[in-house]
Amino acid sequence: MGESETTGAAVADAAAIEVRGLRKSFGELEVLRGIDVTVRRGEVVCVIGPSGSGKSTLLRCVNLLEEPTSGTVRVAGTEVTDPEVDIDRVRRRIGMVFQSFNLFPHLTALGNLTIAQRRVLGRGRAEAEEVARHNLRRVGLTDKESGYPAQLSGGQQQRVAIARALSMGPELMLFDEPTSALDPELVGDVLAVMRGLADEGMTMLVVTHEMSFAREVADRVVFMDDGLIVEEGPPEQVVGAPRQARTRAFLSRVLDPAAAGGPESGTARPEPPAEPPGRAPEEVRKRPLR
Ligand SMILES: Nc1ncnc2c1ncn2[C@@H]1O[C@H](COP(=O)(O)OP(=O)(O)OP(=O)(O)O)[C@@H](O)[C@H]1O
Ligand SMILES: [Mg+2]
Repeated sequence: MGESETTGAAVADAAAIEVRGLRKSFGELEVLRGIDVTVRRGEVVCVIGPSGSGKSTLLRCVNLLEEPTSGTVRVAGTEVTDPEVDIDRVRRRIGMVFQSFNLFPHLTALGNLTIAQRRVLGRGRAEAEEVARHNLRRVGLTDKESGYPAQLSGGQQQRVAIARALSMGPELMLFDEPTSALDPELVGDVLAVMRGLADEGMTMLVVTHEMSFAREVADRVVFMDDGLIVEEGPPEQVVGAPRQARTRAFLSRVLDPAAAGGPESGTARPEPPAEPPGRAPEEVRKRPLR
């Protein structure tokens, strides 16, 4: 943990994430049509945009859960799109948190936090449990280490999932709508944990529909539509005073869905956007450990 928190100028030159000319097609469908985005160390970048615009695909290309069709992705200076790269090693530096928590139902919170540490990082039980307890404390769940996922609320499960990712000592964290499957009253606790991570200097790329989070926590906001970045800048600009008509239209739908005629796209809570069919099993398939 300590060593992954980087401050100062020494590492300022190596961007945490550097995406250049990224394109991704699924068959005939071009989902990313040339994306350039940089996340510097310690920066929090929020990605917003309508359903189907390619936000999740962008995130999934960063740790090669999807293979880009063309373009390059660098994580802390390592080109992950280089066919020679040891992608497992790169992935270990990246924590990923999904909308669905993907916890192992047969393991306690503590067990969920230690299993990958032991199997992937080769840590012994005592060390893995010490790291796990430290991270359960970070997410405010010290008293839940013996709880099974079914005994935890959705918000608690998501905080366990965040603690699990943190237990691997990631240099950066990717979040894909971490709160959109949660009941509204549980969202705040998860956002508070994320805010705490941001305050500690964690580099974060966050897909979210939580505009207040984006406004308050993001250093930059990226608005995507139809596989392209339409607008990018500080939250005061992109969320507060968008320059592009498409950004304005999206925000008016998200910030006031009732007035905008329903949740057809880019829906804010309390109606989370529908997952495209066939996606959930894929996320399950690609969860960090079997
Ligand atoms: N594995 C896949 N195979 C085929 N098409 C896919 C696959 N994954 C995503 N797509 C399609 O790519 C497009 C972009 O999907 P993506 O999940 O990146 O959008 P999104 O912006 O995250 O949307 P949402 O806000 O609903 O999560 C969609 O049309 C989706 O159906
Ligand atoms: Mg998505």
